[in-house]
Amino acid sequence: MKKVAQILKSKPDQAVYTVASSTSVFDAVTLMAEKNIGALVVLDGEAFVGILSERDCARKSLLSERAPRQTAVRDIMTSPLQYVHPSHSNEECMALMTDKRLRHLPVMEHGRLIGVVSIGDLVKDIISEQGFIIEQLEHYIAGVRG
Ligand SMILES: NC(=O)c1ccc[n+]([C@@H]2O[C@H](COP(=O)([O-])OP(=O)(O)OC[C@H]3O[C@@H](n4cnc5c(N)ncnc54)[C@H](O)[C@@H]3O)[C@@H](O)[C@H]2O)c1
Repeated sequence: MKKVAQILKSKPDQAVYTVASSTSVFDAVTLMAEKNIGALVVLDGEAFVGILSERDCARKSLLSERAPRQTAVRDIMTSPLQYVHPSHSNEECMALMTDKRLRHLPVMEHGRLIGVVSIGDLVKDIISEQGFIIEQLEHYIAGVRG
């Protein structure tokens, strides 16, 4: 299975989207909608302090009736931040996501945030690996028969 570093390289958009912990939930959701993404890494100054997911917004703002313009991201984010390194494998990320019930993992290298991998990125990678293996097996079977 591929490593996180390779999965990051295959993403069409190499940008990493973050938000300050003091930002309102309304502005954070607006950014998620603009970028068509489901999570933002949360910064307090230079420190990575958590992640804000669509689930946080739906359950901790909308359902608990906290006004999104008056609520700061820090009040509803998921913290502490769970992250992976570029050397982690797809399988390790999947295990961490399952265990911690996460859909996004920031990727840190030497204290720097270099990317985010989502559950969709990992599934896409697994599907493409399976496609490659099936193709190889088809070639092999055709070779044996021919
Ligand atoms: N075809 C593809 O390449 C691809 C890749 C990932 C997801 N998807 C699809 O998109 C839908 C939702 O995907 P999801 O649940 O994985 O999450 P998502 O909508 O949050 O992720 C979509 C893409 O945005 C990226 N992303 C999310 N937050 C980011 C951030 N803060 N900074 C930088 N990049 C960020 C993810 O890594 C992923 O590549 C699903 O239907 C999934 O199948 C497709």
